[in-house]
Amino acid sequence: ARPRVQEILLEARGRGRAVGAFNIYNLEGALAVRRAVEKTGLPAIVQFHPASLEFGGTSLIAACKDVAARAAAAPLLVALDHATDDASIDAALEMGVDAIMADGARLNFADNVRWTASVVARAAGAGVEAELGMLAGEEDGLSVAQRDAKMTDPSVVSDFVSATGVHALACTVGNVHGATKLPVEIDWARLDAIKAAAPEDLPLVLHGASGLPPDVLHRAIRSGICKLNVNTEVRAASRRAIKDASEAGKDVLNIMNDNVDAMAAVVEAKMRAFAPPP
Ligand code: 13P
Ligand code: ZN
Ligand code: NA
Repeated sequence: ARPRVQEILLEARGRGRAVGAFNIYNLEGALAVRRAVEKTGLPAIVQFHPASLEFGGTSLIAACKDVAARAAAAPLLVALDHATDDASIDAALEMGVDAIMADGARLNFADNVRWTASVVARAAGAGVEAELGMLAGEEDGLSVAQRDAKMTDPSVVSDFVSATGVHALACTVGNVHGATKLPVEIDWARLDAIKAAAPEDLPLVLHGASGLPPDVLHRAIRSGICKLNVNTEVRAASRRAIKDASEAGKDVLNIMNDNVDAMAAVVEAKMRAFAPPP
């Protein structure tokens, strides 16, 4: 049987949509995403980076799983994002997360295959997302040749997927982490070639969705992207809300409430943008 996350991503693709996967850091983040799920009736994913796990430990996963389980309007799943170490992956699997991103982008191809396959082998019912190529940071200042060398090579996609058994693949096609001011140039021909090379039922993932205008998002969805990762824009809204509420002299609970309101508004807008009318 396919992992639930894969089913949900493929169902979204079938409807011409992508599922938003939102990085969160605390209970407020999980509550914000759940509110957006209830308002839109669309599924979503809350995910943490291993660095926030280091802060909150498995208690953070437990709290988010509890919040997610109470989403009524549509599924809300819990995932570990950009995991590079086996310890955080095993801790998250032990807690019963729905998905793991096994980020082997820094490894050479053979090592990425070996390590990703080992994660798939112990993931049980959880879905595993892998990455081929490596995302540039917005400040990287690479030449075009350097940038191309870091992108996903469509010619190895089929071998990688069959050798690892991954349930989703993150593509590196010019997308960048962060809300860069520079125009992001997606290599559409490369994305189309990746889609053509991948198995029909393999969800494709685009990281770095902060800062991408609606037309780029919609074109990505038409090209087979069915999971879009968002971090920076939600975090920026959170920081602004906390700063404004603090400066207005509000106390902790009211600051937390404003924080949830601000994050939920951004998440809801992203989820609607990821589900364009047919
Ligand atoms: P952004 O910060 O650009 O939204 O990227 C998020 C991401 O890819 C998390 O994995
Ligand atoms: Zn990412
Ligand atoms: Na981005």
